[in-house]
Amino acid sequence: MNASNGTRKPVLLLTRRYPDAVMARAAGDYEIMTNEDDHPYGVDEMIRLAQGADAMLVCAVDQVPADLIRGLPDSVRMIATFSVGTDHIDLAAAKERGVTVANTPGVLTDATADIAFLLLLGAARRAAEGERLIREHRWDGWAPTQLVGVHVTGKRLAILGMGRIGQAMARRAQGFDMEIHYHNRRRLPADQEAGAIYHADADEMLGIADFLSIHSPATPETRHWLNAGRIARLPDGAVVVNTARGTLVDDEALIAALRSGKLAAAGLDVFENEPKLHPGYAGLPNTFLLPHLGSATDQTRDAMGFKALDNLDAFFAGREPPDRVA
Ligand code: DGY
Repeated sequence: MNASNGTRKPVLLLTRRYPDAVMARAAGDYEIMTNEDDHPYGVDEMIRLAQGADAMLVCAVDQVPADLIRGLPDSVRMIATFSVGTDHIDLAAAKERGVTVANTPGVLTDATADIAFLLLLGAARRAAEGERLIREHRWDGWAPTQLVGVHVTGKRLAILGMGRIGQAMARRAQGFDMEIHYHNRRRLPADQEAGAIYHADADEMLGIADFLSIHSPATPETRHWLNAGRIARLPDGAVVVNTARGTLVDDEALIAALRSGKLAAAGLDVFENEPKLHPGYAGLPNTFLLPHLGSATDQTRDAMGFKALDNLDAFFAGREPPDRVA
């Protein structure tokens, strides 16, 4: 593919090492600038490296705040993110600078819902504790009262945010005969609701949640949404799952509820200030913790990269990127 003036390939700054197939396609279509040791770039470093670039391919852990966007050279006209989330990019600053932003919705739905259900099961059934018992050679045999967890089948699952991933989580839960409740900004049409029970008021939904799974985007309004007040509304012994963003949870409040036994367990794939998560989580036996693995399958990571490149290709061909973020 040629640049819009037809004389050269656009120059693309790749902030991280992406999957091999994605790197190969990018190298074929763009002049690429790569991150050889795959370290996370800081703001000043990214501005310096972006000199001469036409576009950037960033990912969910690259912070792209307003001062970075304002410091970019005029040549950078597009930022494609290898993520469905866009909370790491200051979209207002991008708009102000006339920089187009696009993300990768759709392709990571199943992988992320799989991890959410893994967390639900792992937290409820004390999988991490059981695994540690074996690995640390502490297991002295089966016992009637050993590592008794929370029963999953037939229980009530409350889903906060019924977008693609929330709906995929509901489909998985249906296989476990769970009763699905959800809160979303808008009620879904009946065919998408598929029998799930809508709650216009998220706080009111919490009262019935044996399990709560969080799938809402991170925005200033949802910061620390799950706080002490909302945790108090959950039934005693509830299980919390988060695969959305760590900022939706008030860590201090969640840790206090896990410590006191108000909540039975939490399964978490995302954390505020990743990778420096609150130290309280790792010290608790009733947490099942993963390092932001939601989209981490071979197929999904390739698809995310190809989607990001599709968006870049469209932009440099003078077309609207299919996943342009408004
Ligand atoms: C995303 O795409 O936003 C995820 O958090 C990365 O897995």
